[in-house]
Amino acid sequence: MIIETLMAWAQQRADEGVRRALPPQAYTDPDMLALECERVLKRGWIMVGHISQLQTPGDYVTHEIVDHPVLVVRGRDEQLRAFSNVCAHRSAVIAKGCGNRTVFRCPYHAWTYDPTGKLIGAPHMDKAAVADIRLKELNLEVWQGLVFVNLDDGAPPLAPDLAALEPRIAPLALAEHRVIHVEDLELACNWKILVENFCESYHVFAVHKDTLEAPTPTASTELREGGAGFNHHIQRNSTPLPDALKAKLNLPEEQANEFHLICIYPALAFGFSPGHGLGLTVLPDGPNRLKARMWLTRPSYEGDSPEAAALAVKRVREFLAEDMGIIESLQRGLAAGTGNRAPLHPWESPGWEFSRHLLNRLGVDADDVPA
Ligand code: FES
Ligand SMILES: [Fe+2]
Repeated sequence: MIIETLMAWAQQRADEGVRRALPPQAYTDPDMLALECERVLKRGWIMVGHISQLQTPGDYVTHEIVDHPVLVVRGRDEQLRAFSNVCAHRSAVIAKGCGNRTVFRCPYHAWTYDPTGKLIGAPHMDKAAVADIRLKELNLEVWQGLVFVNLDDGAPPLAPDLAALEPRIAPLALAEHRVIHVEDLELACNWKILVENFCESYHVFAVHKDTLEAPTPTASTELREGGAGFNHHIQRNSTPLPDALKAKLNLPEEQANEFHLICIYPALAFGFSPGHGLGLTVLPDGPNRLKARMWLTRPSYEGDSPEAAALAVKRVREFLAEDMGIIESLQRGLAAGTGNRAPLHPWESPGWEFSRHLLNRLGVDADDVPA
């Protein structure tokens, strides 16, 4: 039923050539969510950490991708691997949080795995019976220091879909950042609402008038061409870069004040400037709820201080609280079903690109819908 609704919606957009937000049911219907999970999120590349969290053998992070616990760990051979974080014995979840371990011991019957996923101990079991047991390995890809996992064994690689984005952000050396803050968020709204919130800066002058509007004005929005795997816009940031960082990155003035806002499909909202990075993996927890994990990163440069880093975290939490204050109300409005009818502003084009991507992945042909 939801597919028919979306097909009719896509046809109307193709006929009239006007961009509008997805129909309200796309944010409230449990069938929509089930399809998104199966066709989009379980087949998409999901960011689960930053490379600075996984530098040393034994370093690991965990995440949960649509009810599937995952574990990423660096082995003694320096190799990074992703696994289903589920015990081969009776499915207990093995590792929690993040940190460093030489082995991973299941809390239920103490079966123990090494960082290559091989079972190396199973108390009271006949050794021969468990000789070839391993954790299920998952697809992993590191792109510009961001660590992604894909639950689909047959998924095409991520990097080709981000090829056009790479030269725009490579000069900022994100892989050399370090994580300064990780936080889990829960909100009473559909997961797409938070993703879409990062796909436009049109709301900045209204929602962030006392925080972001002065340093990164709404009117400084510049759209960048999106690609198969992403959308991208920038704002100009008037906060000057510290001289040491400027010298280290050696960026042209034109790039030094760019604040990039990017969505890496399907679930990563990603914002960064030369001085900081913000990654937000947004996943559903039911049609009307989301769970997100946020990573804040920062480059190392002479003269930086823990106080400056703490202030940066405080600022991000401030403007994020402003977003959260408004976007839960969208869910209540969407439940009424009377909105999402008016044309979008051109600054909302990246969100429109996200909608088209989603429809195509759901099997709704949106190629005739105007780009
Ligand atoms: S479920 Fe892990 S050891 Fe039994
Ligand atoms: Fe915002």
